[in-house]
Amino acid sequence: MKLFLDTANVDEIKKFEFMIDGVTTNPTLIMMEGRDYNEALKEICGIVKGPVSAEAVSLDAEGMVKEGKEFSKIAKNIIIKIPMTNEGMKAVQKLTKLGIKTNVTLVFSANQALLAAKAGATYVSPFVGRLDDIGQDGMLLIEEILDIYDNYEIKTEVIVASIRNPDHVKRSAIVGAGVATIPSKILEKMFNHSLTDKGIKQFLADWEKVPKK
Ligand code: G3P
Repeated sequence: MKLFLDTANVDEIKKFEFMIDGVTTNPTLIMMEGRDYNEALKEICGIVKGPVSAEAVSLDAEGMVKEGKEFSKIAKNIIIKIPMTNEGMKAVQKLTKLGIKTNVTLVFSANQALLAAKAGATYVSPFVGRLDDIGQDGMLLIEEILDIYDNYEIKTEVIVASIRNPDHVKRSAIVGAGVATIPSKILEKMFNHSLTDKGIKQFLADWEKVPKK
């Protein structure tokens, strides 16, 4: 499973660059950085060789396509994030015809994921955490989408998004999602285990007792 970092923060990207396969951004994440979106994307694409998602904010297909064309001038690895709407899917079809890769975002149902795939999306991003937040099982949606894509040999890759904890990542890998996009604080937690810390402490203490010439 590929691991993307869900952030627009360049320091976080530099810290984890050796472990990640790509980056996803969105208007909220870029707002948190308080900087120009295009400049941030240019810097991120200079660090990360894999796919970097940039989100369009227009609500009509024409506007999304225009934004997509502009974003894709920044770097070859830019992916255009398009919201799951009727207009959005028109934009995905047009961008796909132009050879521009897309990531359909704000997906909360299997039928939305089916439509995104039919429109030609390169990636689809179901938001598991936000479904959990309203009392539904986000990971069940991932299983449903993977089953549907498997039934029809659909090439669209599933990016598990809105990840809230390391268990979401583990379960994504168990069910065979192509990608999980992870906030840096969750990725940090994935490195850790109290028994690892305890083991290191024990080994270092024992090493001190080893006779040295
Ligand atoms: O990038 C999209 C997604 O991962 C957002 O997550 O935590 O705002 O629901 P969250």
